[in-house]
Formats: sequence, structure tokens, C-alpha cells
Amino acid sequence: MLNLQNRRTFDQQIYNQGLQAMTQEVIICHNLESDLEQAVERCPHDRLFVLADTTTRELCWPVVSHFACMQGARLITIGATDEHKTLDTLAHVWTALQEGGASRHSLMVNLGGGMVTDLGGFAASTFKRGIAYINIPTTLLSMVDASVGGKTGINFGGLKNEIGVFNCARTVLLDTDFLHTLDDRNILSGYAEMLKHGLISDVAHWAELLRFPLEDMDYATLQQMVAQSVAIKERIVEQDPTEQGIRKALNLGHTVGHAFESMALDQGKPVLHGYAVAWGLVCELYLSARMAGFPKQYLTQTVQFIREHYGTFAFDCKQYGKIYELMTHDKKNEGGIINFTLLADIGDIRINQHATKEDIMDMLDFFRDGF
Ligand code: GLY
Repeated sequence: MLNLQNRRTFDQQIYNQGLQAMTQEVIICHNLESDLEQAVERCPHDRLFVLADTTTRELCWPVVSHFACMQGARLITIGATDEHKTLDTLAHVWTALQEGGASRHSLMVNLGGGMVTDLGGFAASTFKRGIAYINIPTTLLSMVDASVGGKTGINFGGLKNEIGVFNCARTVLLDTDFLHTLDDRNILSGYAEMLKHGLISDVAHWAELLRFPLEDMDYATLQQMVAQSVAIKERIVEQDPTEQGIRKALNLGHTVGHAFESMALDQGKPVLHGYAVAWGLVCELYLSARMAGFPKQYLTQTVQFIREHYGTFAFDCKQYGKIYELMTHDKKNEGGIINFTLLADIGDIRINQHATKEDIMDMLDFFRDGF
């Protein structure tokens, strides 16, 4: 039987292991080959697996596969896009690891967008109770958000990211050269998360994002803005790795955004995550102005930017009930009450805000009429 002293030591070990799993290094790459080689060396392993989707297998794996540190790696491929972020795909990855002889000392490298890094991170975190993994995000969305901060998971029961764990990649390697292969819609999808980071941080960064000429993009400036955006996220995640408090700031725009995204998926017309977040930002900034005094001129400027670049999401008032019902499943909620993150100003974050049903219906009217 453990005496109290031993028990304290045991608890402390579990706690330390938890913290270790929440520390990760994020590297802005100038030489992907040597950065990856060093990251792999820092994770001693018996077998090496790479997870790609059908798109990154064609476009990104050829860049990486000839690196000396990738020789002998076993490639696992899954379907591209969010429709494949399912239990079946997860089982496919577990099976491939098992059949490939993976042990607890194996290492997985996730090469892809948010779907690959989320699902791959979850597969690695659960296989034999967890193997180490490295993320190489290849989309703007996964560079500035999904690959950083240890949220992993899959969609389930018609809900986004319903099942998953917090467990950080050992290293995240950000190589903005991959962005040259992205189409405009995928750039915009990631840019919505950057806009969110601007809104929760400071006016100067937010204004820079609104000014940046997306149609005639300078990749060097984009790389600097990506580094700035990731630093904003890292600062918040470091304070609250498991989203007990301030990390909820990173959910600005997502309470409504996830509801739009789930509804679109359910209707068989999926929308890109960042588009749903951009539309969710319009709704939640409206609520911020109404409930927390968010300045009207910032609301107008942000809404105008989003309308110009992202268009709108079409729904009618008969669907308000469905959208409300989807919001009741948000992971931030407690006791069945929808829990919003709002802003009193740019960088002035208010977590755990409760809107009435009337506020929410007016918000949806604002989105449809004023948008
Ligand atoms: N995507 C929000 C977060 O990582 O907390």
C-alpha cells in the first residue's frame, strides 16, 4: 500500500508528465531538411511513420521523402478534407501503425493541413497509450492554429472535433514555402484564424492584417505575420494548456463558426473551417458590440473585410433553431448554457459570456440582413 509520501511523489510524476506533454517547440524553418533532421534526432525511435493525405502525398511528400532522416519511413495515406476526419479513418491509421510494427517507441510525422495534424495527433496520442509525434503543417490554417497547442481529435456524431485529447507535438516545423501550393480559398481559410489572433491581441496587428494585400501577396511579409500570429497563440496556450480559462480566447468566432460548419457538413455542402470562423467572427463581434461595448467602428471595418473576402453563408430563419441547437454542443459550455468568448475592445477579452436566446436570434438576423 502507498503511504501518503509515496502517493504525493506518484501524483507529482503524473503531473510532470502531463506538463511535459504540453510543452512543444515551434520552429520557423529556414531549412526544412536540417530542422526536421534535428527534430527527429531529439525523438529517439525504433520505427518512423509519416501520415499524409491524398493531396499532401502528391504535393508535399516528394519534398520531404528524399531527406536522409526520412529514409525507411513508412507512409500512411488518408483521404483529404474534413469529411475524412472520422473514426473509420482513425481506425485505418491505428491499423497501419499496428501492421507496420509500431511500438510505443515509434515516431509519427504528420504532414498536412489541420485535418491531418488533428487526426494524426490523436492517432499518435492514443496508439499504445501514446507515441511521440512531429507536425509539419502544410496549410496556412494548420500553421497558425491547428498544428500548435496540442488539440487533437476527430469529428463525431455530426459535431466538429467532438472526440480528442490535449497532447502536444514534440516539434512543429513551420515552412511557409508550402504555402505556394495553396489556392486562394485555403489561404483565406487560414487568414481568418490570423484575423482572430489580431482581434484578441492588439490594434496594430489587426490593422496590419486588414491592410495586407491578399490579392497581390508578398510571401516574405506573410511569413513574418505567420510568426507573429503563432506567437500570439503560443503565449495564450502557455498560460492555459487545457483551456480552463484564457485559452477560450482562441475560440472567438468558433461558437457560431462551428455551428455553421457542422450544419454545412450535415447538408452535404462542407465549407472550409476558416470561412465558417470568419462568419462566426461577424456574429460574435456583433454580440461583443451589443453586450460588451466592442467599438462599432472596429465591428464595421472587420465585417466589411470579411464580406469582401469571404462572402456569406446562406440560411433562413427556419434554420435558427438548428444553429442554436448546434451551439449548445460547444465544448466551452457548462450546464447547458452557451458560453461565448467576446471582446470589449481589440485585445480586451471577456470569456464565459452568456447571451440570451433573444440576443442570439438578433445576432443571426444581423448576420443575414446586415451582411
Ligand atoms: N483552435 C483553438 C485552440 O487551439 O485553442
